[in-house]
Amino acid sequence: MLLQCVAVLGKTYSRKGIMESSYVSTGVPPLVALHNVTKTYRDGNVRALDCVSLEILAGQFVSIVGPSGCGKSTLLHMIGALDTPTSGEVRFHGTPLSGVEDIDRLRSREIGFVFQTFYLLPNLTARENVQVPMFGDGQSDEARVAQADKLLRLVGLADRADHMPGQLSIGQRQRVAIARALANGPALILADEPTGSLDSKSGGEVMDLLGMLRVERGTTLVVVTHDAAVAARAGRTIRMLDGRITKDVPNG
Ligand SMILES: Nc1ncnc2c1ncn2[C@@H]1O[C@H](COP(=O)(O)OP(=O)(O)OP(=O)(O)O)[C@@H](O)[C@H]1O
Ligand SMILES: [Mg+2]
Repeated sequence: MLLQCVAVLGKTYSRKGIMESSYVSTGVPPLVALHNVTKTYRDGNVRALDCVSLEILAGQFVSIVGPSGCGKSTLLHMIGALDTPTSGEVRFHGTPLSGVEDIDRLRSREIGFVFQTFYLLPNLTARENVQVPMFGDGQSDEARVAQADKLLRLVGLADRADHMPGQLSIGQRQRVAIARALANGPALILADEPTGSLDSKSGGEVMDLLGMLRVERGTTLVVVTHDAAVAARAGRTIRMLDGRITKDVPNG
């Protein structure tokens, strides 16, 4: 497998447009680094990721684009420790995830996820949904509620805290999901088609919100998108095809 990856890298890295491993020169480990990550399904017959290497620095806003089935969500799952590679290594702050004992804890403290279909719990209010990642972290009920209300204010939904998801617009539901993703003050937000269910106005508002979080909180942002307007907001775009990165460029 390693030899195969080296061959792939040699070919890929010689292509124009790839950012060679330049980030390491800072001396600070990248927030996330993938090294020769391959993910296969169905006894190796489906190669969702094929020897992918990349580094994401703290504070970056990265978009991931490419045709359906090219491996974008799989890559996001690897970055977010939601899934493990078939081969290769993922590092978080320089530490290999394979050596981390409590991945769930790392994930819930460091990473916030935003999905196209929100996954809000329908029988909980907005305020309760935002608290879900905080349960079990030892905070008092009052502290949790105060934190949830603060986050709902941040996403412009202070007056909707007692509403059920079914009583909110689609764009408002996505903003509740973003507030939930922020519950534990994550260093990294991973969003898979966060505007995919929204009209362009609501989608723009959600992206404004994510951009604001990056600027005000220094949150690192990785967004998978089919929307060129969303991708254009990022400082860096990673293009994928058939499980590989074919382009990795700063947006000009
Ligand atoms: N659990 C699974 N079992 C088998 N194959 C899978 C599984 N999950 C993903 N795949 C395959 O892996 C490849 C990459 O899937 P992935 O979901 O990462 O694509 P994607 O780029 O996110 O596509 P889309 O834009 O449609 O969401 C696809 O060929 C998909 O069919
Ligand atoms: Mg996907």
